[in-house]
Amino acid sequence: MDMNVGLLGGTGVEARGIALRFAANNAKVIIGSRSAERAQAAADQYNAVLGRPAVCGTSNAEMLALSAVVFLTVPPEQAVSAVTAYRDQWPRGLVLVDVTVPLMFRGGYPEYAREGSVSNSEAIAAALPEGAALAGAFKTIPAHVLADLDEELNCDEFVCGDSPEAKDKVLAVLGMIPTLRALDAGPLRSARILEQMTALAIGLNRRYRKKGARYRVVGV
Ligand SMILES: NC(=O)c1ccc[n+]([C@@H]2O[C@H](COP(=O)([O-])OP(=O)(O)OC[C@H]3O[C@@H](n4cnc5c(N)ncnc54)[C@H](OP(=O)(O)O)[C@@H]3O)[C@@H](O)[C@H]2O)c1
Repeated sequence: MDMNVGLLGGTGVEARGIALRFAANNAKVIIGSRSAERAQAAADQYNAVLGRPAVCGTSNAEMLALSAVVFLTVPPEQAVSAVTAYRDQWPRGLVLVDVTVPLMFRGGYPEYAREGSVSNSEAIAAALPEGAALAGAFKTIPAHVLADLDEELNCDEFVCGDSPEAKDKVLAVLGMIPTLRALDAGPLRSARILEQMTALAIGLNRRYRKKGARYRVVGV
């Protein structure tokens, strides 16, 4: 696919997994960071894993200008401020994909951390410029599973969003990753369910002393 895949907050563990999966399957990947140096250092690490220079790093602002699809991989409570920092220069046609999941832990088990009925994805959508496209995806696969290129994913990932064109683009981008099936999970408000499914998956990991719980839907 001839488009750049970017990561806003691309120096963290979740971004590492997403970047490696895409770059390993011939996507052009751009790591964004508040520090261009940190972004390039992360890109260098990812390239060392890949064994070739498939990833580059730059400032979040430049990454946004160069990418067609950008995954938002900042801490959940920083997601709104992270996008509004670039609101005035938001590129037309860019599709942002929210990966954030607001969780907290009580007694060792995860709980959904947002109050009220609106998901993190919907809160981010409300902060974007008029007409900007947002989808939600990659909320339910553990970062370390994504980053382990020797492990087949063998699971589904759910894509939600209110723009059919944007959602189709994200479904196509996720289709680049073998052993992952991307499913259309409906409108952006489905993120309310998906974000809570992540809490369930982490809870199952705790209960069964595993690390890689993720979802496979049968019958679809
Ligand atoms: N870990 C998982 O298995 C998993 C699974 C599904 C979803 N998620 C979601 O993925 C997201 C990323 O998780 P993570 O553990 O990778 O996060 P993280 O390492 O804590 O942060 C990722 C990056 O966000 C940037 N950042 C931090 N604060 C920021 C701010 N105020 N403004 C802009 N950028 C900021 C930092 O990059 P720079 O300092 O370089 O700018 C940081 O390296 C989270 O929202 C999480 O809920 C994680």
